[in-house]
Formats: sequence, C-alpha cells, structure tokens
Amino acid sequence: MTTQTTDTAQALRNAFGHFATGVTIITAMDAQGAAVGVTANSFSSLSLDPPLVLWSLAKTSSTYSVFEKATHFAIHVLDASQTSVAQHFAKRGTDRFASIGHTPGTGGVPLLADFHACFECETHSMTDGGDHTILIGRVMRTTERPGEPLLFYRGQFARAATLTAE
Ligand SMILES: Cc1cc2nc3c(=O)[nH]c(=O)nc-3n(C[C@H](O)[C@H](O)[C@H](O)COP(=O)(O)O)c2cc1C
Repeated sequence: MTTQTTDTAQALRNAFGHFATGVTIITAMDAQGAAVGVTANSFSSLSLDPPLVLWSLAKTSSTYSVFEKATHFAIHVLDASQTSVAQHFAKRGTDRFASIGHTPGTGGVPLLADFHACFECETHSMTDGGDHTILIGRVMRTTERPGEPLLFYRGQFARAATLTAE
C-alpha cells in the first residue's frame, strides 16, 4: 500500500492511473477544413436526457484552439487492436492525419474508419477544469461494432477480462 500527499504532479498522476479507462481518439475540423485529433482517456458518459458526454482537454494541447472553436467533435472508442492508433494520436509535433484517412460525419466532423464505438457530437458547452477545459457534447449519432475495448491502466494499455458474478 502506498499513501502519499498529492504534492507532486507525479504522485497524483500515479493515483489517477489506478482508475482503468477506455481509450478514445477525439476529432474535429479546424477553420480551414483540416482534420485534427487527439488521444484522450478522460471521456465519460454524462446524461441520458439530454444525451450528453464529456471529456477534458489540456489547455496546453496543440489542438486546443481547434476544439475550443469546433461546433462538432467525434469520439472514437478504440478497439483492443488499436494501440498503435492511440500512440499515433498522442504524438506531439506531427500531422496526425497525414497518413490516416477520414470521412465527413455529423456537421462535417472527421470520422476514422476503425473504432469500437463512435459518438458524433455537437459542442454543447465548455467549463473550466483547472489546467484542462471540460468539453460537453450533445450526442447526435452513435455507432457500435463488435470486438473488445482497448483499456488504459497505470500508464499501460490493457484488455478487459469478463468476471462472473458469484
Ligand atoms: C492513453 C492516453 C490518454 C490521454 N488522455 C488525454 C486527455 O484525456 N486529455 C488530454 O488533454 N490529453 C490526453 N492525452 C495526451 C494527448 O493525447 C497528447 O499526447 C498531448 O495532448 C500532447 O499532444 P498535443 O499537444 O498535440 O495535444 C492522453 C494520452 C494518452 C497516451
């Protein structure tokens, strides 16, 4: 057992890492019509009625000015086979769409071909969240596919194992 005060960013990051999440790629179109995307595990469902989801984006992200203005964004929940896609969209200083195709979805939002599930959203609102901004989206369209989800746990990619209730 490790108990620490959260006086360092690393200690807090380590504690946050004990919460297993899925992994998503979130995309939007910039004002010139170019696609941008970022790997994010901060995605969460928020409301059924109205249908809302949320995620948070670092204010230092190279994509920040695009998502801040975007009217729509798409959240692609990754499949367990897509660790390289997750790494690709987390890499700094690259044109992430140079080698990756996309098609227009709701509001022209760039859609990736491969994913486990996709939520096409209209930007509903944005809220300050410290060094991040919380983006809330109204879900306009969902797509689900068979397969298994990619997970992120304690800084590593993982896959899910189903447990039988006793
Ligand atoms: C598994 C994983 C999850 C991530 N989740 C988030 C997130 O929820 N929000 C965020 O702003 N950055 C997140 N990042 C970091 C971004 O993907 C990206 O690496 C970082 O923002 C630096 O690139 P950028 O400045 O081009 O955005 C995550 C990275 C990884 C590998």
